[in-house]
This record gives sequence, structure tokens and C-alpha cells, in this order.
Amino acid sequence: MKKTALVTGASSGIGREIAIELNRRGYDLIISARREDRLRELKEQLKGEVTVIPADLSDTEQCRELYRKASGRNVSVLVNNAGFGDIGQFSSTDLEKELKMIDVNCKAVHILTKLFLRDFQKRNRGYILNVASSAGLMAGGPMMASYYATKSYVVNMTCAVNEELRRARSRVQLSALCPGPVDTEFNDVAGCSFGVKSISPRICAVNAVDGLFAGKMIIVPEKLLGVGTVAARLLPKRALLFITGNIQHKKIK
Ligand SMILES: NC(=O)c1ccc[n+]([C@@H]2O[C@H](COP(=O)([O-])OP(=O)(O)OC[C@H]3O[C@@H](n4cnc5c(N)ncnc54)[C@H](OP(=O)(O)O)[C@@H]3O)[C@@H](O)[C@H]2O)c1
Repeated sequence: MKKTALVTGASSGIGREIAIELNRRGYDLIISARREDRLRELKEQLKGEVTVIPADLSDTEQCRELYRKASGRNVSVLVNNAGFGDIGQFSSTDLEKELKMIDVNCKAVHILTKLFLRDFQKRNRGYILNVASSAGLMAGGPMMASYYATKSYVVNMTCAVNEELRRARSRVQLSALCPGPVDTEFNDVAGCSFGVKSISPRICAVNAVDGLFAGKMIIVPEKLLGVGTVAARLLPKRALLFITGNIQHKKIK
């Protein structure tokens, strides 16, 4: 039987490119997102068996339904990529949008990681790539407080479970992808613009897939940013918040 990968948020940006890269490496695919037309258009470009499963991952029941539909199809790679951000002062940003963000960025990742991990552990094989962000490696993100917090959740959960698996000598691999700015539809959805140079989703995706199969716990696709995030950890929290706050203010359109 051919190996299969499930990619969420495959209708655009990083998820779309990760799906293309996995397909190039011989994987059949299950692609998911809300915009079914985009998924069908992507399917036309891919080889092998490609299944489209539209789902709104802000809805817990649809997360479980996606798992039910995908399990039993020999999934050995799960990419939890769907996610979005929002910018503004915490006191004035939209509460409903943020609650949906927490549902998609954290709850859906949590549900799908746990359900697929159980299957992967039974087979003692499988890869899970959780798309976090360099935001998740920082002390917090003034003007994007909720988004940074959701990505910290993803990084910390992923690293902790990675350590559980290492101690159990499991062959299941769990990685967190932590890119800086990537040129996707992210800014349109978040209502911001990058203050610094971005990389292409293609470069991000190739680095992500390489890092996942190489067994990296945290994958930072840009070398310079990788050095920056290590250096950032040495700074006092207040200093790091000040620097991040300055960068974030430049993102406001
Ligand atoms: N771009 C960056 O600079 C950057 C940097 C670091 C991390 N990231 C992370 O990378 C991931 C992908 O983002 P991107 O940059 O590629 O942005 P994007 O082009 O806007 O893609 C986001 C994807 O998430 C899906 N999605 C959003 N809400 C969803 C929902 N409720 N249910 C199901 N799918 C949903 C979207 O599909 P539909 O709209 O069709 O549902 C789309 O496919 C996100 O987790 C993001 O936080 C991005």
C-alpha cells in the first residue's frame, strides 16, 4: 500500500506547498481546508490518489470527523498546518475571531495530534509536523498577543510530547515548524504587513519536510532566524518583549 499524508490548510500558502512537496516525494494525499474549490484545483496538479476533505477546524466535531474519515487510509504523515493570526491591541481585537483562532491554532492541532499519535504509536511509525511559528519561540508578542500565545502552545506541546516519545524509544516523530515571515495569504487574514523580509512558501515547505524526516524537534527554515531565536532566549523577558513589540508595531498597515 502506498504511504499517505494528511495536510490541513492545504488550500493556500505553506500547507499547499507542503502537500506538493510530499506528493513529489511519493505520498498519496488527503488535503483539507474550508475552500473546497481551491483544494480541487490543487488536486488537479497532484499525482497518485488525492482525497479532498473540506472541514472547518474551528469546529471540534469537524476535527473529529476529519480524523474518522482519514484514519484507516494508511496515514503515516500528519501536517497540522491550518492556522491564522490577527493584529491589534489586546483590548480592542475581536473576541470571536480570537476564540476561533484558539480553536484552529491550538484545539484542532491538539485533537488531531492526539488521535493520530495513538494510531502511530500502535504501529510504532509515523510523522507529525505541527506548524507553529517563530512567534512561538518568543516571550510573547505585543500587538499579536493571542497569536503568539497560540503558537507557544503548539511549540511547547510538541516539544514535550517529542521528549515523551524519545524516552519511550518510539519511532514516531513529532516536529514543530517555526518559520519567520513567509509570503502567503497570512497577512491579508491577519490584517498586517511584514516589517522584515519574507521567504517563499516553497522554500519553507522543502525545509519543513527535510527537517521532519531528519527527526528535528524544532525546524526553523531560515538559518539567520534560527541563530536569532537562540540568542533571544538569552535575553531577559522584558527586553525581548520590548524588541518584539517594536517589530510588531511595524507590521500594522
Ligand atoms: N505566513 C507566515 O509568515 C507564517 C509564519 C509562521 C507560521 N505561519 C503559520 O503557517 C500556517 C499556514 O499559514 P500560511 O502562512 O500559509 O497562511 P494562509 O496562506 O492564509 O493559509 C492558511 C491556511 O489555513 C486554513 N484555515 C484557516 N482557518 C481554517 C479553518 N477554520 N478551518 C480549516 N482550515 C483553515 C486556510 O484554508 P481555508 O481558508 O480554505 O479554510 C489556509 O489553507 C499557519 O498555522 C500560520 O500560523 C505562517
